[in-house]
Amino acid sequence: MKKVLINFAHPARARSKINSALRAAVEDLEGVTFNDLYATYPDFLIDVKREQRLCEEHDILIFQHPFYWYSTPAIMKEWLDVVLENGWAYGSQGKALKGKIFLQAITAGGDNNTYQKGAYNQFTIRELISPYLAMAKLCKMEWLPPFVVLGIHRGTPDEKIQAYAEEYRRTVIALRDGTLDIVQARQGQYINSDLNSITRRQ
Ligand SMILES: Cc1cc2nc3c(=O)[nH]c(=O)nc-3n(C[C@H](O)[C@H](O)[C@H](O)COP(=O)(O)O)c2cc1C
Repeated sequence: MKKVLINFAHPARARSKINSALRAAVEDLEGVTFNDLYATYPDFLIDVKREQRLCEEHDILIFQHPFYWYSTPAIMKEWLDVVLENGWAYGSQGKALKGKIFLQAITAGGDNNTYQKGAYNQFTIRELISPYLAMAKLCKMEWLPPFVVLGIHRGTPDEKIQAYAEEYRRTVIALRDGTLDIVQARQGQYINSDLNSITRRQ
């Protein structure tokens, strides 16, 4: 069983509907560590050694967050800036993250039609998150297409939210248990585009 670290960023958790549901679906899982960055570092003073130790102790790194201005909430950028040190994460001596799986779990208000070339949001989700792909490559991690929940808003029915939460739990379990076909997952646009075709039933 692999160990999964979920770095979570939501600056307004009390107002969160979908991320709260996703969180509830995975945080009790064996082998999963849920690391709430805004709760741990309300002043943005990230404990670099603690964060590096957490990364070293886990095999899979997930960044779970709502899409804010086509990117992550601010603390995740701060996390990258201070935790991914030269000689630890990258550079000729930096091998701490080598071979670990990296995945983003993103929720967004815009639906899939708005995230197409030239459409309302101009770019695809995959284009917009390309700095994270570049970061993962530089740190020698195995990048996977993101888990996405698109077109989510206040009026989204609870049953739909629950279905996404179950999909997320299934994805995390499959990654943890090594029952997700990584090679095939890389072919899809999103990791949850067609979960049935990339996961082996236990
Ligand atoms: C400051 C802010 C920026 C946002 N930026 C985007 C964005 O760039 N693209 C998008 O599709 N949705 C955007 N949204 C909508 C959020 O992504 C959406 O409300 C969130 O994913 C819902 O998850 P929650 O219920 O956990 O808060 C933004 C919301 C806020 C408050």
